[in-house]
Amino acid sequence: MKLRRPVIAGNWKMHKTVHEAEGLVKDLILELPDVSNTDVVLCPPFTALYRVAELVSKTSIRVGAQDMHWEKEGAYTGEISATMLRGVYCRYVILGHSERRQYFGETNQTVNRKAKTAMAANLRPIVCVGETLEQREKQDFKAIVRSQVIESLDGIPADQSGELILAYEPVWAIGTGRNATPAQAQEVHALIRSILVEIYGVKQAKKVRIQYGGSVKPANAAELLSQPDIDGALVGGASLEARGFAAIVRAAS
Ligand code: 13P
Repeated sequence: MKLRRPVIAGNWKMHKTVHEAEGLVKDLILELPDVSNTDVVLCPPFTALYRVAELVSKTSIRVGAQDMHWEKEGAYTGEISATMLRGVYCRYVILGHSERRQYFGETNQTVNRKAKTAMAANLRPIVCVGETLEQREKQDFKAIVRSQVIESLDGIPADQSGELILAYEPVWAIGTGRNATPAQAQEVHALIRSILVEIYGVKQAKKVRIQYGGSVKPANAAELLSQPDIDGALVGGASLEARGFAAIVRAAS
């Protein structure tokens, strides 16, 4: 039995129209009739959030967004606020995904602002960290992950830290088919846990769930999830297909 309740999230990225989302969610509900000991979160694009939330409303599946803005409202053309996400029944929000860092200028500072706004709105942030291949090869990855965690969580108080989810997603493992080995992932998850101990103390740090992401699939999920500090998965490509995603959820539960 795991110390922390596993949390498996599907990050659909820029895939699925509302119509396609309906089909996937209906299939998924049939595949997963009885999940009780794992949190399952679907993160479709903004345009499908409302419909997906409606479809899963009688199940234990929850819905999350892939990003949000840090301000409550205002003149920010194209942006979506935490309150808007709550309005379509979101409970989670992915923040600081490496694709947002790479293509859209996301920094640890913007992630930090977003995380605080999310928590104030009762949205659970899934804060993503992880090094590039170059950083890993230069042996810089521990310092990179350390600064990502510390700067992204700056000012989030210990008594709220239990609501946080972190996701370790090595950039070189995302969409490449080349996952981190369970030992490589566990090494960084243990490092993240030790940083959380420094920030929040042992008792609170033990409550924070840390997901692994990067080429998670049915064939490697069980072994990754059996590591002591891996508390779930953030799944990209394999979450776009009901049977595969369901198999990953079953590997956790
Ligand atoms: P893949 O599972 O497609 O490698 O993507 C991982 C990811 O980026 C999830 O956020």
